[in-house]
Amino acid sequence: MRDRTTNTPSPLFSEETVKQRVRVMGQQISEDYAGVTSDSPLFLVVALKGAFIFAADLVRSITVPCRIDFIHASSYGAGKTSSGNVSIRHNLDVTGHHLLLVEDIVDTGLTLQQISAELMAMQPASLNICTLLDKPEARKYPVSVAYSGFTVPNAFIVGYGIDYNERYRELPFIGVL
Ligand code: IMP
Ligand code: MG
Repeated sequence: MRDRTTNTPSPLFSEETVKQRVRVMGQQISEDYAGVTSDSPLFLVVALKGAFIFAADLVRSITVPCRIDFIHASSYGAGKTSSGNVSIRHNLDVTGHHLLLVEDIVDTGLTLQQISAELMAMQPASLNICTLLDKPEARKYPVSVAYSGFTVPNAFIVGYGIDYNERYRELPFIGVL
């Protein structure tokens, strides 16, 4: 089997392209949530670890009152995507809040489906999904995505927070292994 850890990712979206797209996403979200107030702010729930850099940039492009917290989700099995088991850890109370779930990449859709179900059980005021990347060809579990940065091919993506076996998260661009 090819060892992905020795490969250099080929760029798919440059640092500048990502920066501009994230800025536009933040503007769109700010328009759509123009009604939120500091008493009832937009609540960003960020899926760790992959979405941490995306969320850091996105939140700085959002101009409406917001707060931010984190949920940890991982598929069992090192290096593999979507083994069929998702472990979710959090300490959130989101009842009555307007939630924006921030994810790095939607692949089969299982992770988002499970996180959404867990958040919906707490009866938020609303819930929308925002993903940096969408791999529609890989979808097995339907997910309704309100905001998507880029559509990507069914390949292994790294960079800008997204890893392969904990590598490549620090890359400023998005690439394919
Ligand atoms: P899903 O549950 O199949 O939708 O997978 C979603 C999760 O798997 C994402 O949050 C990522 O953490 C990971 N993942 C899916 N595709 C990729 C990829 O191409 N590169 C790195 N991680 C990925
Ligand atoms: Mg993820």
